[in-house]
Amino acid sequence: MSIVEQSQAADQGIEVVRVAGKIGAEVRGIRLSADLEPAKLEAIRQELLRHKVLFFRGQNHLDDAGQEAFAKAFGEPVAHPTVPIKEGTSYVLELDSQHGGRANSWHTDVTFVAAYPQASILRGVVIPEAGGDTVWANAAAAYDDLPPHLKELADKLWAIHTNDYDYAARKTAATSEEIKRHKEVFASTVYETEHPVVRVHPETGERSLLLGHFVKRFVDLPSSDSAHLFAVLQSYVTRQENTVRWRWAEGDVVIWDNRATQHYAVNDYGDRHRVVRRVTIDGDVPVGVDGRRSVTRTPQSGEGSAPSASAS
Ligand SMILES: [Fe+2]
Repeated sequence: MSIVEQSQAADQGIEVVRVAGKIGAEVRGIRLSADLEPAKLEAIRQELLRHKVLFFRGQNHLDDAGQEAFAKAFGEPVAHPTVPIKEGTSYVLELDSQHGGRANSWHTDVTFVAAYPQASILRGVVIPEAGGDTVWANAAAAYDDLPPHLKELADKLWAIHTNDYDYAARKTAATSEEIKRHKEVFASTVYETEHPVVRVHPETGERSLLLGHFVKRFVDLPSSDSAHLFAVLQSYVTRQENTVRWRWAEGDVVIWDNRATQHYAVNDYGDRHRVVRRVTIDGDVPVGVDGRRSVTRTPQSGEGSAPSASAS
């Protein structure tokens, strides 16, 4: 962090404290709202690019409307393409543990569409006494960690992402209600998009691995080979050194750069209740190392799924 960059946050009375070595910082001394001064919003954006996940404690003043209003000040909110918004809101996606909202597999939000969200803003509403942490991974650090030969391979690979994957296959103890909801709601409209496996970040220029549980297979590779190769590349994303884990409290807000991260909601809280609400910020179409942009394709029936898991 340069002195100039450091002072941008400090000048605004914002304290930024790293949480893990390679990703994540807690931001203190800020009250998130639609009325934040432009300089403060800009400082948050810069810190987000640097740390990829920002944690804000004690934002208990925010309700759904307040969260949406802040999101509008931050960027252009966008609703989920298939899951209905929470009643009485314009953009809020509610993830309720009592209604299947347990995203316990590694993913980047909504990568089955081309211009998937650039950022997600998640608010802790009901948090179990213990458990229910979320873990984020730095997908740019994952790319940096690849040996040169794997980098060369990844640079050229493209992957097909879809929301119509085999939900039950990778989800331990998925209930029949959850499977039904996935098919009838989450995959009510089927999307398939070809993304480069290595995305060049539009603001930082960083290269990062674009994978996660919406990947069905790699382009021009059969499903079985894709599954092996996916496991190898994905393992670089999820290695512990590239992650940060957050212990939620009610009123916490977490913002992440959805262009350079994956996340995983730890499902270790049994029947206890957990509710978080998300507003996503509209993104742009990814660009690969060779300058090609992601493309949405027409789904073909009868294609097998490879890696998978839950909604979000
Ligand atoms: Fe998610």
